[in-house]
Amino acid sequence: MKRILTGDRTTGKLHIGHYFGSLESRVKLQDEYDIFIILADLQVLYDHLDDEKGRAIKTNVYHALLDNLSVGLDPDKVTFFVQSEIPELSELTMLFMFLVSVGRAKRNPTVKDEMGQAGTNYDHMNLGFLSFPVSQAADILLPKANLVPVGEDQIPHIEQTREIARRFNNLYGEVFPIPECKISRFPRLPGLDGQKKMSKSLGNVINLSDSEEEVNQKIKKAYSGEGHALFTYGELFGVEPNDMMGIFKPCLADAINEFLTPIRKRRMEYEKNLGYLRDILNQGQKRTRDIGAETMGQVKEAMGMIY
Ligand code: TRP
Repeated sequence: MKRILTGDRTTGKLHIGHYFGSLESRVKLQDEYDIFIILADLQVLYDHLDDEKGRAIKTNVYHALLDNLSVGLDPDKVTFFVQSEIPELSELTMLFMFLVSVGRAKRNPTVKDEMGQAGTNYDHMNLGFLSFPVSQAADILLPKANLVPVGEDQIPHIEQTREIARRFNNLYGEVFPIPECKISRFPRLPGLDGQKKMSKSLGNVINLSDSEEEVNQKIKKAYSGEGHALFTYGELFGVEPNDMMGIFKPCLADAINEFLTPIRKRRMEYEKNLGYLRDILNQGQKRTRDIGAETMGQVKEAMGMIY
């Protein structure tokens, strides 16, 4: 069975943009592939060290796990693991650091895009920020994933991963597969306010864990002027466009609530048993570390680092 690795930074609850951007395809692919889902807690630190998100890592790891389970990912088929619970990832990241020039790291367009939040020049950026795509390459290559389904903002990281895998293989012999990227159906969902991107920090999202009342209120208040996003949502949830917002908005809210009903139900089941969530993470940690140890053995052997 071919392997997939994908996942999310654990910065908060996942929203419907994440659903159409990646969760939907994870659910579809779980029968065909051996899927690993990383809950990327270390990746939160590069720009949220001392703020609310930095302090809420633990809660947010469980939000991410619950969101993934509630959309229908089956914990018996899928391997979930927390990034910081796999020491082999840090080990592989360290070795990959030597394969990437500082210039190459600075040219990653997603790093550049996100830099605004961290400062205006590289001198103020922490090293973890500049090198998180290298750590992401380790996430993908430690379990030797063949396919990485992600949103389009992640393409530069997969490119960098492919370069690292090729560089390693050229230097030391074939150890890693060259992973392919799979871009989702709706690469980017616009926000409730009509902005290009649905994003927690912009406050324009519908969360997968929103209640019926929250959805109704959010749609009621959603921007409906020029360039609004409501018909895009209509298309996704099967509601015909109609310029009469008094008619269209309630239909849209109903359709979204209908879509969220089974998701809410599953979440409630899982929430009843938090110990089971920890069990899922323990099993995932064990499996990922076993596979990771095997990969690290091959890596060290190839590099001549067995003493
Ligand atoms: N960078 C991804 C995000 O922002 C999360 C992530 C970490 C990831 N490691 C990964 C995604 C490996 C795919 C593959 O959500």
